[in-house]
Amino acid sequence: MKVVGWGGDHVKMLDQRLLPGEITFLELRDVDGVADGIRNLSVRGAPAIGIAAAYGMALAALSNDASDRASWLERWDADRATLRGTRPTAVNLAWALDRVDAVARPLLDEANFAEAGADGDSPWLRSVEAFRARVLDEARAIDAEDEWMCRQMGDFGAALVPQGARVLTHCNAGGLATGGYGTAVGVIRSAWARDKGLHVFVDETRPLLQGARLTAWELDQEKIPFTLITDNMAGYFMRQGKVDMVVVGADRICANGDVANKIGTYSVAVLAKHHGIPFYVAAPFSTIDLSLPGGDHIVIEQRDPSEVTHHAGRRMAPESTRAANPAFDVTPHELIAAIVTERGVMRAPYTSTLAEAAAVSMART
Ligand code: MRU
Repeated sequence: MKVVGWGGDHVKMLDQRLLPGEITFLELRDVDGVADGIRNLSVRGAPAIGIAAAYGMALAALSNDASDRASWLERWDADRATLRGTRPTAVNLAWALDRVDAVARPLLDEANFAEAGADGDSPWLRSVEAFRARVLDEARAIDAEDEWMCRQMGDFGAALVPQGARVLTHCNAGGLATGGYGTAVGVIRSAWARDKGLHVFVDETRPLLQGARLTAWELDQEKIPFTLITDNMAGYFMRQGKVDMVVVGADRICANGDVANKIGTYSVAVLAKHHGIPFYVAAPFSTIDLSLPGGDHIVIEQRDPSEVTHHAGRRMAPESTRAANPAFDVTPHELIAAIVTERGVMRAPYTSTLAEAAAVSMART
């Protein structure tokens, strides 16, 4: 199921807040609506919010009715800033916005049109139409490439999964978080398809239960056997020797291999290290941010404390409770056995393996 897509004159977005109970697609007709959908987690997961932002820019281009270049680009940039400001941690969002801008903006260069006003078949309108088409093409390409990259990661990652492995995952890095198939869940799906006879431990992932609501739902659809556990049970099962490997997704990976992912990932990585269990990260290169040397530079999104004090609209803590709600944490590279990407499996020293792989331009097959 595609979680986000283009509806001709609107953005279609699966409202993941309602899963697993209800499958409802939102029809978003302006950039503010797409921004709200990203902010309120109707769409979530690093690659999926990048794709949503790219389709959001297709909407921005369609609704922009300014009749001269300067005001057109001013509105375009304001819409880009709105989308960019929604969630700070996953780099895919800014990556997708920059990519769309880079291919479309030259179509409005001085050289490409004569400023002729908005009447009839003017060069200006032709430029705008070309711009709109180019943005939509790029959004669709980002979407399609992401699914392809997930399948590549699945192929590479499956080779790391031992026969009969018990695999623990945290949060949701599945088809719901991507253009399709999933990153960490993609590795699990590919291993399952190769008859590895897996069993998955799914961390419920407090406070918003992406594991319980989304990963469990996806695995159930795929008929992959799993056990749902609360986050604080991971150590119990590791100590009993019931977990053979961990695989998670990522929101941003720094040049040195430090990984930001859903809050609680770091605790799982420390536990895995203590128990001698390999801890893998699966993420496409669109999640790798070589401009940041290490995890201390990553901006961690702080969300509304009511997500911690309340559950399903009901208060769970006394009225006066102060709660903290960092949405992500950073797992230092020392705790990571390998990073599975669409370009292969990267191992330490990440500073050189990631940089070398990033330099290779990949031809899509
Ligand atoms: O707050 P969320 O649900 O957007 O957080 C999602 C995660 O942390 C995922 O693990 C990550 O984005 C990778 S998704 C392929």
